[in-house]
Amino acid sequence: MSESASESAFVPEIDAPRLGRGGNTTERERIDLEEAFEIVPGGALGGNALAPDVRFVFARGEGARIYDTSGNVYIDYCLGSGPLILGHAPEAVSRAIVDQVSRGTHAFAYLNENALTYARLLKEVVPCAERVRFCGSGSEATFHAMRLARSFTGREKVLKFEGGYHGHHDYAQVSTAPSVGSNFPAGRPDTSGIPGVVQDLTLIAPFNDLTAVEGILDAHEGEVAAIIVEPVQRIIWPEPGFLDGLKQLAAARGIVFIMDEVVTGLRYALGGAQEYFGIVPDLCTLGKIVGGGTPVAAVCGRADIMDQADPRNKGGDGFVYVNGTLNGNPLGMAAGMAMLEELRKPGVYQKLFDIACSVRATFSEILRDHRIPAICFGHGPMWHMLFTDREPRNFGDVIASDRKALVAFDTELIRAGIFVLPGNRRFVSLAHDETVIRDSAVAFERACQAFLAKANA
Ligand SMILES: Cc1ncc(COP(=O)(O)O)c(C=O)c1O
Repeated sequence: MSESASESAFVPEIDAPRLGRGGNTTERERIDLEEAFEIVPGGALGGNALAPDVRFVFARGEGARIYDTSGNVYIDYCLGSGPLILGHAPEAVSRAIVDQVSRGTHAFAYLNENALTYARLLKEVVPCAERVRFCGSGSEATFHAMRLARSFTGREKVLKFEGGYHGHHDYAQVSTAPSVGSNFPAGRPDTSGIPGVVQDLTLIAPFNDLTAVEGILDAHEGEVAAIIVEPVQRIIWPEPGFLDGLKQLAAARGIVFIMDEVVTGLRYALGGAQEYFGIVPDLCTLGKIVGGGTPVAAVCGRADIMDQADPRNKGGDGFVYVNGTLNGNPLGMAAGMAMLEELRKPGVYQKLFDIACSVRATFSEILRDHRIPAICFGHGPMWHMLFTDREPRNFGDVIASDRKALVAFDTELIRAGIFVLPGNRRFVSLAHDETVIRDSAVAFERACQAFLAKANA
């Protein structure tokens, strides 16, 4: 039997010794993990590193499960940090990608049929999307949205929230995950290399606190171009009236209200959080799900703001450059459209919400049974855990929780066969069926036992 045939014949079972990072590492994976440090900084492709004994090399994903190159299997609640709402390698999306490949994958941000069709579809389902401009990542989308807002208002400052994540660029990397509370509205840079002048243009407010936002806007009257907010900040739920209050405060001061829907877009409803909460922003950013697992994102919104990016005005006053070599590439468009079609099917969102409810209830009960002082919480198709006794209302509450304990617990989850990014919020997919949740419960229980054994040692 060929290697790939034997791999696909492998049916993971909860009692299989290969579930989780249980010390089962092949020589090939061990060498790869070691050599990675000589090839990519820190042996990592991005900003996350796992503890040495649970690091692994991803080999493939299938439905709710991923496999490392040693053949260990993990039930995946990271799901590519969110895009894989149908699970790994969903048939409809894979087929759409394969079909497109032979027709061409790239058109240099030039009008192509796929991009136009997909933009039409998004315009149909996303409430604020009078215009759509595709780009390659969520960070590009928020970068463009902020630039559009600055040009539209003739102002330079942007207000964001402590703990809010809007990508990797200089205007976003302020107070995304500070280890100590902010001295509002001053933020803390999350990376070295941000010019001081750029950092000074970012104002930080506590989430779910309209009075604080109003105070900051009053103190910076006439200077603020945009308020940018994740409608569900990481996992923190907006209190009733908060998002609408932001919209009103922005409108009254001529500020552009941007909803960063990179995570919530197509997840809480086809029209994202703006449909779910019934609050339409001036601009929104989409990413993750919108690319069906390929590098696609978009900035969408009011025609008068978006049309500043009309290339016929290039070089003119008020022209905003929103471009990228791979924008609207037909391959990503095909994947995104196939994803959207799947999400349009009746009952899909109810099912997703039910799956997440079941995951939260299952894990909460196991935590209670083991008397682990943590909560499992969330709303809609996302969940998280914190070592605290109540759901956070802002990032200050997250800082106050025992974050070291969470990373230690999450590391046990990986050892037991549940993949999460330690300390980070988790997702569910439509592939997380009852069997997957039952298997997850057994692995979760094992992680609880291992965590307690170490805590009490
Ligand atoms: C809300 C939000 N905005 C923007 C981004 C940046 O997206 P990307 O990583 O695709 O650049 C992310 C990424 O996680 C995000 O969660």
